[in-house]
Amino acid sequence: DKGNHRHFMEKEVYEQPEVISHALGHYVDFASHTVKIETGAIDFANVSSLAISACGTAFLAGSVGKYWFERYARLPVEIDVASEFRYREMPLSPSQAALFISQSGETADTLASLRYCKDNGLKIGAVVNATESTIAREADAIFPILAGPEIGVASTKAFTCQLAVLASLAIGAGRARGTLDAADEKELVRHLTEMPRIMSQVLNLIQPQMESLARDLSKCKDVLYIGRGTSYPLAMEGALKLKEISYIHAEGYAAGELKHGPIALIDENMPVIVIAPHDRFFEKTVSNMQEVAARGGRIIFITDGKGAAASKLPTMATIVLPVVDEIISPMIFSLPIQLLAYHTAVFMGTDVDQPRNLAKSVTVE
Ligand code: F6R
Repeated sequence: DKGNHRHFMEKEVYEQPEVISHALGHYVDFASHTVKIETGAIDFANVSSLAISACGTAFLAGSVGKYWFERYARLPVEIDVASEFRYREMPLSPSQAALFISQSGETADTLASLRYCKDNGLKIGAVVNATESTIAREADAIFPILAGPEIGVASTKAFTCQLAVLASLAIGAGRARGTLDAADEKELVRHLTEMPRIMSQVLNLIQPQMESLARDLSKCKDVLYIGRGTSYPLAMEGALKLKEISYIHAEGYAAGELKHGPIALIDENMPVIVIAPHDRFFEKTVSNMQEVAARGGRIIFITDGKGAAASKLPTMATIVLPVVDEIISPMIFSLPIQLLAYHTAVFMGTDVDQPRNLAKSVTVE
């Protein structure tokens, strides 16, 4: 049932405040602002490193998670797409732990990577939506994302719920490893608990602007997304979402990579979507924006109030989100990315919930 939405995808985008709140309720204590994770078989305090593997959007959630585990828990992370991971013959040791992220819990390459790690004696964690799935069954510890059924082929609420779970796990790992003290934990969890409310506010705020921007995007053949830090995997997720449902060619790049190749593509016909909250990387990303502007490129600037005030560069559009803590910005900045892809696809008249050539669950390699 789509309720009063035109597509499941739209319904699932708007469900996010509710499902994230539900998912967080499982991992954090809203009153004491502490994580309450049962990490079960995974001893985060003593593991030497974490291997993460997944496909598509789940891989990009894991790529955001890498920044969190490394920053908050000082836990080195090795991440790869499952179709490479399973065949790389990477050396592993039982002192490491492994995390597999899958909405369906049935993705063939992710399952094969899991079995490779299991054969090498690693303890396995599964971040899944389908808790009765094969990946969940074969794991030592299950971390449900509690997103509820996701019908739209393009993943939306599963992505942000995966992020919410990974953020909670990284904070829990930080506590276990002594890299976060009680005050740090409280502060980070407080930000997480504020997230559902901010998400609702943002969804209401940006909808009209996303619809009008979609008209402009629908005329483009190519779109570039750039970002730094956790906004880098988000740039790739933005590009993936757009190409999946609107069939417009899009690429996501680390902002610092622009001058190493893609800058050659820039002209007035290829908009550059810059994802840049006012964080530690902001000034660097603005200098990349400058390079785009100097070459006549059109910029769609997704930032926050502070970022909008700090940059004087002309843009095709500036999307201004509330200023939020770094730990929740990937979830908040996912919203304009999802809605921009959605409205562009709707405007172009594609089959949003069933994009061509794609299946919801990929059980063949
Ligand atoms: C993109 C998308 C896919 C899936 C990928 C993994 O919107 O939905 O990229 O994320 O096929 O699927 P799961 O998470 O079921 O393993």
